[in-house]
Amino acid sequence: MVVKYEIHGGKQLQGKVMISGAKNAAVGILPATLLVKGTCRIENVPDISDIRLLLQILSEMGASIRRLSFSTLEIDCTRVHDIVAPSDLVRRIRASYYLIGAQLGRFGHATVALPGGCNFGPRPIDQHIKGFEALGANVELSGGYVIAQAPEDGLRGERISLDVVSVGATMNIMLGAVLAQKTTYIENAAREPHIVDLASFLNAMGAQIYGAGTDVIRIEGVEALHGGSYSIIPDQIEAGTYMAAAVAAGGEVLVQNVIPKHMEAITAKLREMGAKITEYEDAIEVKRTGRLRRANVKTLPYPGFPTDMQPQAAVCMAIAKGTSVITEGIYDTRFRYCAELNRMGAKIKVNTKVAMIEGVEKLHGCEVKACDLRAGAAMVIAGLVADGTTTVEDVQYIERGYECMIDKLRGLGADIRRIESPDPVNIQNVG
Ligand code: EPU
Repeated sequence: MVVKYEIHGGKQLQGKVMISGAKNAAVGILPATLLVKGTCRIENVPDISDIRLLLQILSEMGASIRRLSFSTLEIDCTRVHDIVAPSDLVRRIRASYYLIGAQLGRFGHATVALPGGCNFGPRPIDQHIKGFEALGANVELSGGYVIAQAPEDGLRGERISLDVVSVGATMNIMLGAVLAQKTTYIENAAREPHIVDLASFLNAMGAQIYGAGTDVIRIEGVEALHGGSYSIIPDQIEAGTYMAAAVAAGGEVLVQNVIPKHMEAITAKLREMGAKITEYEDAIEVKRTGRLRRANVKTLPYPGFPTDMQPQAAVCMAIAKGTSVITEGIYDTRFRYCAELNRMGAKIKVNTKVAMIEGVEKLHGCEVKACDLRAGAAMVIAGLVADGTTTVEDVQYIERGYECMIDKLRGLGADIRRIESPDPVNIQNVG
């Protein structure tokens, strides 16, 4: 099946949109259930394809999973089998690397296929491995697999200083360390809201993790984790995407179920560009009427401006007055989508990790591709802004991380639809 989005642009957005649970928290919390003997009731789980894949992996490992409502799941991993997680599924998502920490913590060993995920250039996992080795594990890479083995007397807490601030390594080491003996310190830890959320989930199940959200996290190993209930935080990047959509397309949108504190860097940048933003306890109202102003931004680890909002911000800058500069501070190659935006009339010049964006009055619709998840979201926003019809291809990337994007945008008055057509067949020449 080939799936595309068709957008008739030029309409302002009006109304309310409800933000789902955070993808990058959920992709750590689901593997974390492997460490728990008992039932975890988890609310606010986003219904996106990365999560469906993780649930399939857990289910094939023997987890018992019940859906209590659209976004509430019960997962019981008490009787999971000590098997290699299905590699064909594991390779399809980046976050499957959390199975290494979780399986190592639960079984004392893990064999996990090297993860897939969006292509932003090299995405090494050396810091994850450094952490597991510091806890005493022997880790080898062989035949496309990470093979980790704890010593006979189990993993042991240590002081680990990360060489780069890594979300994945911080969360993975936390998973490996919760049931280890003694105390683990992660220094130079990432501080993203989803790090705090994973720690809060594990603590709700009996772990003793302190300092998540700062750059030193202390994990006092416990004997076992027990079942419990937990609600995942709202998705910072999904909220930022709808804020950027409202700013780019114009109009007035109330983004509901957000934690405004998590949005500060995004809110500040959009305000600088001329958006009127009002923060409420758990909602943010975004208005834009006049032409946007130029701005510069550099992506950084939290609490800096998130790299996962960089393409969406670029669309706002593409139609702002003046020339904006984006410097990508996390990944080597995250500007591939600029060529697609330029096909829509944007004027962006990319020089490795810097994009110079000369604002234009208008974008025009055409056929574009989603190069990755957030780039795909940016194409949708560009389509909402552009004159005429935009078709976005390769939307499977978007559906990895955005729950019901079409319905949510239609609820705001956007003219967007999802088109499914059968795979093109090879027509043989029989003449
Ligand atoms: N890095 C290393 N060695 C490591 C790990 C990371 O050199 O062992 C480098 C990376 O190459 C990158 C930087 O450190 O340059 C940061 O990478 P990080 O580990 O923080 O990223 P990640 O865990 O692979 C998560 C999110 C990404 C998000 C980044 C940064 C998940 C599943 N993915 O990736 O989310 O861009 O953190 O915030 O949580 C997305 O949601 O669209 C997405 C790509």
